[in-house]
Amino acid sequence: MQFSSLISLSLVPLSHAIPVIYIAGDSTTAPDGGHNGTQGWGEYLQYSFSANTRVNNSAYAGRSARSFTREGRFAAIAEALVPGDWVIIEFGINDAGIPQNGSTSTTGDKGRVDCPGSGEEVCVVTYNNVTEYVQTFGTYVKNASRLFLEKGAKLVISERLPTNSWQTGEFKFTPSVYAYYSMLVTQELGGPKAGVYFVQHGQYAAQAQKLLGKDIVKANYPMDNTHPAPYLADIFHQAFVLGLKCGTSPLADLIVNATARIEGPLLGTCIQANATLPI
Ligand SMILES: *[C@@H]1O[C@H](CO)[C@@H](O)[C@H](O)[C@H]1NC(C)=O
Ligand SMILES: *[C@@H]1O[C@H](CO)[C@@H](O)[C@H](O)[C@H]1NC(C)=O
Ligand SMILES: *[C@@H]1O[C@H](CO)[C@@H](O)[C@H](O)[C@H]1NC(C)=O
Ligand SMILES: *[C@@H]1O[C@H](CO)[C@@H](O)[C@H](O)[C@H]1NC(C)=O
Ligand SMILES: *[C@@H]1O[C@H](CO)[C@@H](O)[C@H](O)[C@H]1NC(C)=O
Ligand SMILES: *[C@@H]1O[C@H](CO)[C@@H](O)[C@H](O)[C@H]1NC(C)=O
Ligand SMILES: *[C@@H]1O[C@H](CO)[C@@H](O)[C@H](O)[C@H]1NC(C)=O
Repeated sequence: MQFSSLISLSLVPLSHAIPVIYIAGDSTTAPDGGHNGTQGWGEYLQYSFSANTRVNNSAYAGRSARSFTREGRFAAIAEALVPGDWVIIEFGINDAGIPQNGSTSTTGDKGRVDCPGSGEEVCVVTYNNVTEYVQTFGTYVKNASRLFLEKGAKLVISERLPTNSWQTGEFKFTPSVYAYYSMLVTQELGGPKAGVYFVQHGQYAAQAQKLLGKDIVKANYPMDNTHPAPYLADIFHQAFVLGLKCGTSPLADLIVNATARIEGPLLGTCIQANATLPI
């Protein structure tokens, strides 16, 4: 009797049999992308992990670090986490601007613009007639990250995707300020030593766009210059995986593809990085 209860105690799961990778993000990551036949890159991530992990794409179209927080979407991920899980956080498409007074979910800044700045700046506005103390991108992402770390998860803070780099007819890519904010957040959370890793997803996706060329890239933005068609969304997933492989994250060890098979004429090779980059 005592013996069997000991055995059943030892079977209480402290972690999942396989880790779950949760993804927090916007329409460029989400299931069904920005709709209209577009797709989010997060939908393809499972194919680079096979049966080693399960991917839960919790990204949601139209969201920013601010609205993902307000709507309890980070909290829902935290609720589901067990030690050994991973969370990928990629925002910055819907975060830019200056918060406006009197916005609703369909008017003004739609309640999604963060307070500008890289520190603890706060903007006070009314949203849906309620006073909201709007925080910076960094404050929202660090707040969610600390919750995830407390649950025993490890994190990837991922640089947002670029828009169509060929939209003017010439290849152009300038890293977004959210690339810098995401890198800074990773450092402020303690970086790789604390289980928090930065992926230069925007840089790798731009490199892939450059190699694909104008015609293919333009044909894969059917709706606007932000939301890719499924083919390009899959390429952006591969670009993320290459970026992950080029860093030190143990999540890279779970990828089924060999680095030699990922690097090549389609995606390019690892981007030069120095020791200060928390990849
Ligand atoms: C996308 O599809 C919706 C209907 O699902 C339509 O209302 C909207 O105008 C379309 N947008 C674009 C840019 O094609
Ligand atoms: C921090 O996260 C908790 C849980 O998601 C949320 O309730 C709270 O509003 C967040 N605070 C900030 C400043 O983001
Ligand atoms: C995916 O994660 C969300 C939290 O973001 C959770 O509510 C949902 O149940 C999960 N879905 C599956 C299929 O596990
Ligand atoms: C919004 O209105 C409040 C008072 O009505 C004011 O204190 C605040 O500065 C305003 N915020 C912006 C961003 O205009
Ligand atoms: C905000 O308040 C005004 C005036 O009381 C009201 O007409 C409006 O419906 C409210 N809007 C929301 C989003 O609650
Ligand atoms: C890894 O291989 C799978 C199966 O062939 C494929 O679907 C996926 O796109 C590959 N990932 C990368 C990053 O090449
Ligand atoms: C390392 O790279 C970053 C980003 O590319 C750059 O800002 C920084 O100056 C570099 N540091 C050193 C020591 O080279």
